[in-house]
Amino acid sequence: MPGDFAIGIHDLSVATTQYVLTHDTLAAHNGTDAAKYHRGIGQRSMSVAAADEDIVTMAATAAAPLVARHGGDRIRTIVFATETSVDQAKAAGIHVHSLLGLPSATRVVELKQACYGGTAGLQFAVGLVHRDPSQQVLVIASDVSKYELDSPGEATQGAAAVAMLVGAEPALVRIEDPSGMFTADIMDFWRPNYRTTALVDGHESISAYLQAVEGVWKDYAERDGRTLDEFSAFCYHQPFTKMAHKAHRHLLRHCGYDADEGEIARAVGRTTAYNAEVGNSYTASMYLGLAALLDHADDLTGQTVGFLSYGSGSVAEFFAGTVVPGYRAHLRSAAHRDAIGRRQDIDYAKYREIHEYSFPADGKDHPVPRETTGPYRLAGLSGHKRIYEPR
Ligand code: HMG
Repeated sequence: MPGDFAIGIHDLSVATTQYVLTHDTLAAHNGTDAAKYHRGIGQRSMSVAAADEDIVTMAATAAAPLVARHGGDRIRTIVFATETSVDQAKAAGIHVHSLLGLPSATRVVELKQACYGGTAGLQFAVGLVHRDPSQQVLVIASDVSKYELDSPGEATQGAAAVAMLVGAEPALVRIEDPSGMFTADIMDFWRPNYRTTALVDGHESISAYLQAVEGVWKDYAERDGRTLDEFSAFCYHQPFTKMAHKAHRHLLRHCGYDADEGEIARAVGRTTAYNAEVGNSYTASMYLGLAALLDHADDLTGQTVGFLSYGSGSVAEFFAGTVVPGYRAHLRSAAHRDAIGRRQDIDYAKYREIHEYSFPADGKDHPVPRETTGPYRLAGLSGHKRIYEPR
């Protein structure tokens, strides 16, 4: 534990989109057996952003309840992690800072390393709080994942944001030292600046993820981390929920344990409820897993959770977090279930129209149709500027 006070996640809030496409609808369109999606990759549906939603509106929607509960006065830094940013220069978090009316004496920055960025944000936040425990850091992970239509990756799209308030003496989860780290230069998944959809070598990306599982565990063990049996649950990055099962099976075997399927389900099963409905939310995915665990598991007080964050390219990190007594009084379980449950079902044609749409790049005025029923919206583009507003 850094210093003589605990640091970690004080509050956590999830947001997603207006629309949802079920895997039944996708399967009916492309002639795939729906069981491949439901059982094979462990996905039921994917969140689809409305015309007036994006990473900023989801991020502001996720973060607003944190500011409402705790105020914004102690937030000195906003770290916004994303790999689907809306601008190459301006940090998306500045739009969120403005929508939430946070004080001007704030540092705002954006971070990128594929799906790993949210964890970089969390760890950097821990460092900032260590330096000054009177400060809080708002860490936001927000992404809209998009693959080519009719590609194998299409079934693993999704969208969500998670906002976390990181501070001293946290109410939910204490983040522990050490971390196990791993980096390898691999082109398993990437998105050049000129593309809106990701490129991926799907099966290679799964191998790269599993290689990273070994790498982070090796480093974690060498730094005298906890042993596997000290953890009561594991939150993995979930590009699709079956990946958490694959990863944990791999870790158990790598450590010489029996990879018993019941044991794997006990370790990761409680972390997949939200990701199965939302799809891959890249930077937010692992923290959606944490939200699902905290919201659904029986009392976790004092129990230790393992976090394995993977970002293609690739960078990974393993660390432990311990659940704080009294955490249940601070959860937002009903709001999380509502965010997922209230999404509006769309048919394949509407999904395809949204997927194929791209904003005109002529710099003229382009108001965006009113679609979201969430609290913030993208009102339009004008002079190449994105205009956001409360709804
Ligand atoms: P695919 O190749 O079409 O699927 O796409 P498959 O043939 O490998 O089948 C998938 C699973 O379904 C298999 O199970 C099949 O057996 C099973 P497994 O053998 O793996 O246990 N299956 C069925 N089960 C029941 N009934 C059936 C049936 N048919 C098949 N009828 C793939 C799968 C994941 C490759 C594809 O969706 C893809 O390319 N996705 C995108 C890449 C990805 O998600 N990679 C994960 C690791 S990389 C990562 O996590 C980072 C990432 O989030 C990006 C970032 O960091 O920013 C992606």
